[in-house]
Amino acid sequence: MLVSAVLAMSLIACQQSENSQTTKTDAKNASEKSQQAMKKEMPKVEAEDLSYLIDEHSYANKDEVLLTHLDLDLEVLFDKKQLKGHVDLSFERLQSNAQQLILDTRDLTIDRVTSIDSDGNETDTQFVLADKDAVLGSKLTVELKDGEEKVRIYYNSNPQASGLQWLTPEQTAGKKEPFMFSQAQAIHARSFIPVQDSPDVRVTYKANIKTPKQLLAVMSAYNEPNTPLDGDYQFDMPQAIPPYLIAIGVGDLQFKSMGPRTGVYSEAAYLDSSAKEFEDTEQMIDITEAMYGPYLWGRYDLLILPPSFPFGGMENPRLSFITPTVIAGDKSLINLIAHELAHSWSGNLVTNATWRDLWLNEGFTSYVENRIMEELFDENRSEMENALSVQGLRQQVKSLPVGDTILHITLDGRDPDDAFSGVPYTKGQMFLVFLEQRFGRETFDKFLNQYFGDFAFKSLTTPEFEKYLDKHLIAKYPGKVTQAEIDEWLHSPMLPEFMPNPQSNAFIKVDAASADFISGKLALNDMVTDKWSIHEWLHFINNLPQDISLEKMAELDKAFDLTTTTNNEVAHAWLKLAINRGYGVVNQRLEDYLISIGRRKLIVPLYKALMDTKQGDFAKRVYAIARSGYHPLAQGTVDAIVNPAKPVSK
Ligand code: BES
Ligand code: ZN
Repeated sequence: MLVSAVLAMSLIACQQSENSQTTKTDAKNASEKSQQAMKKEMPKVEAEDLSYLIDEHSYANKDEVLLTHLDLDLEVLFDKKQLKGHVDLSFERLQSNAQQLILDTRDLTIDRVTSIDSDGNETDTQFVLADKDAVLGSKLTVELKDGEEKVRIYYNSNPQASGLQWLTPEQTAGKKEPFMFSQAQAIHARSFIPVQDSPDVRVTYKANIKTPKQLLAVMSAYNEPNTPLDGDYQFDMPQAIPPYLIAIGVGDLQFKSMGPRTGVYSEAAYLDSSAKEFEDTEQMIDITEAMYGPYLWGRYDLLILPPSFPFGGMENPRLSFITPTVIAGDKSLINLIAHELAHSWSGNLVTNATWRDLWLNEGFTSYVENRIMEELFDENRSEMENALSVQGLRQQVKSLPVGDTILHITLDGRDPDDAFSGVPYTKGQMFLVFLEQRFGRETFDKFLNQYFGDFAFKSLTTPEFEKYLDKHLIAKYPGKVTQAEIDEWLHSPMLPEFMPNPQSNAFIKVDAASADFISGKLALNDMVTDKWSIHEWLHFINNLPQDISLEKMAELDKAFDLTTTTNNEVAHAWLKLAINRGYGVVNQRLEDYLISIGRRKLIVPLYKALMDTKQGDFAKRVYAIARSGYHPLAQGTVDAIVNPAKPVSK
């Protein structure tokens, strides 16, 4: 790269890092820091490449004009599948001569933009909506007037909004009322709000939401637990959050309390079962606070979504969104709640500044999740969960593009959704387990506590984290880890040889029983499985020989009713094996599973296995029925698998 280009880049980047701060003092400190950094950089012939500070997934000119607050006023129009109304955007000018505000949008219709003066008077303002880019959407440029600090945008979302799913009454549990929910991470907030859609921007927000009278709206904000149903709802989110955490759900929802700070919102069908399944949520908060400092967000509620929700969970602040597929009846899958709660520290409080740094959100969260599980249950449980995650990771890296196995991934303009994998989660988590083992738990916990405090309500990049890690851990306790080891963890592909390899004593016993069954030494009647946990079952099924005979599969099925298991994770593992072995007995169950569940992690590997084993006709037939019930994100992913020639709809 040309030296001048590098210098220009570092100038932009210094301004950007300055803007990731939230409070005025922070911004000032950061600005002083970045100016010092620039003074240091300028005379050098070879400046450091600071391109890592740039968010390549946003058009926003956040280094010139930075959004600080949103006031949303929207109506939820189920018949048109639109959110319609206006948003007032408050901003701070970081460059006093800035004359434009640049926002991200995707598939939005913009009717009018006005500027609002301090008396609330509106005057029309010029704006330009650019052509759509397949990944980024359409850049919206708004002309600013001198001294103005607020603009209002009249707009509506469109039915194809990538961040919203609109469900007909038939697609809900109650069958009577429609349902709508948002999923903004990574770059989908722009499909329902014109905004600076970068995780390096933080806004507070207020919202007025109008819905049909019989429905309840909830948001990632303060939710009044027993709000009367009147179709007119107000929300306030006083803590500054990145736009990917703005979230809304509307449906025939009820509330049930689980503890002083916790409760569930869901359709009547899941209300009691989910409140029971997740009753430990309050205790999880206490556990995490004891380890990593106070929970700073007020209430923590869960919104249980219809099964088409494309993820297991989403950490929308104060209101995690949760798939109903984890309501297993035995708390076997509640690590998901620990995970989403843990994001209240890693992710929502301390945020990845760009999507290249996703591991800072997900790796830390997976680490904290597992620590919560260890406290809530015991080491046996947390070890089993870690062992399963690492087995999954080792499997997955075999088929990932090699660049996607690097923690500080290079995205090169790709949609962050397309590079999604277990790497930021489990490789990131194992990096932290490695540090914990080298420095000792007590020292590492102290470091984490300080990290969450020092970066609270801020965003940071991987290189910024590296500097912090060096100063507060590595240089402080010399001789424990080498720079080469850190570099390998963060910047090298595949998995380090020195990666921790979590083991579970329970699994060693399962392996022995499994080997004896396969070799014919042990009859299934004599296999003692009545005390096996879901984790032991998952380990057992995942590790059966890939060439297991159909007779042995039938034997297992007859003894343990695996085809009809109600645990969705166990069903997933069994169905995948059955597809790979051509065990057609499962086909009806497989069809029902693919039609009733839209969670990507559970369905995508099954469609892939069907295509890989030349059962494409079955996959296509079932997908034709299931597709309309899937979320746009899941549709995009499965379209590309089942019909690879067809361009993926974004
Ligand atoms: N924040 C993620 C979901 C996500 C990640 C959405 C990246 C879009 C882009 C959420 O916290 C998550 O990790 N969910 C997992 C939970 C699991 C690891 C326990 C899921 O949905 O499976
Ligand atoms: Zn997560």
